[in-house]
Amino acid sequence: MRILSGLQPSGRLHLGNYFGMMQPALHLQHEGDAFYFIADYHSLTSLHDPAALRQHSLDLALDFLACGLDPGKATFFRQSDVPEVCELSWLLSTVTPMGLLERCHSYKDKVARGLDATHGLFAYPVLMAADILIYDSNVVPVGRDQKQHVEVTRDIAKTVNHLYGEVLTIPEPRIQETTAVVPGLDGQKMSKSYDNIIPLFAEEKALKKKVMQIQTDSTPVEEPKDPDNSLIMTLYKLVADPAAVAAMEHGFRAGGTGYGDFKKRLLEAIWTKFEVPRQRRAELVADPGYVDQVLRDGADKARIVARATLSRVREAMGLRPL
Ligand code: ADP
Ligand code: TRP
Repeated sequence: MRILSGLQPSGRLHLGNYFGMMQPALHLQHEGDAFYFIADYHSLTSLHDPAALRQHSLDLALDFLACGLDPGKATFFRQSDVPEVCELSWLLSTVTPMGLLERCHSYKDKVARGLDATHGLFAYPVLMAADILIYDSNVVPVGRDQKQHVEVTRDIAKTVNHLYGEVLTIPEPRIQETTAVVPGLDGQKMSKSYDNIIPLFAEEKALKKKVMQIQTDSTPVEEPKDPDNSLIMTLYKLVADPAAVAAMEHGFRAGGTGYGDFKKRLLEAIWTKFEVPRQRRAELVADPGYVDQVLRDGADKARIVARATLSRVREAMGLRPL
């Protein structure tokens, strides 16, 4: 089973990315042949600062490895180290109906938020389809907001297979429903575009500042509080063990404890949860040669698969195979 996913290097990794996509993807690396990549071509649709793109790409590689990506198990690479994907994207675009792309929420949302309405941003799902299809992927772990893009990928693949014979593997999205939408500080979906994120790898002081900003209602300290409608509780459930969660729920219902205290407990739980990855990340930062080598080795492996698929599609469409 080929498992594939990508993350854009366009900002700091946050709890939403981690619980929505990275953690499920890391679990899956033990269940099949995983291919994970840094979607730097995609980031060019929103980031036009070369130094920042390089830095974010390196940071994301460090984040992934620190969180447990095992290069002995998974193939880990930069999207742009396999440029064949751009050619497949073109081939797919020739059978992709405009209407299919016009229906994509992500494009409309991004333009509404002020991103330039470029052709790249509009055609983004076709490049994502090429990412998925070029590696013959069966399973694509993503957060819920990317589900539509995997459905577009399936439609495109079916059209190609209908027109040219069975050349492409039809993938399935894999959404972990319990963490499909992690809320941010303000209760909306946590997203770097909404300035409501809790980063995984921040300094303790900066992390504290974020956690203290979590929105709460104005129930006084002594009154009982509702654990079922609290952002603090929702986030705590992600990072604390069941006994600690039960204790906090009890504390909410009992009254006598203010939200500030609960936030401190949440802060501690986040800090502890990522203690090991934080240390591992610091070691990796000190060894940039290693990270670069992992990505190069990954790209060499990925490229072999990508070239084989591209060649097959070229031939099926009437072009010379590679
Ligand atoms: P952002 O919204 O911060 O720009 P991305 O769109 O780059 O994040 O998402 C990267 C991956 O993380 C995707 O698979 C996406 O579905 C997942 N993801 C992002 N935010 C969340 C969230 N708040 N809850 C669950 N998954 C998320
Ligand atoms: N579009 C995805 C995101 O913004 C990143 C991505 C690019 C991706 N190509 C992919 C995810 C292929 C899964 C499979 O998060």
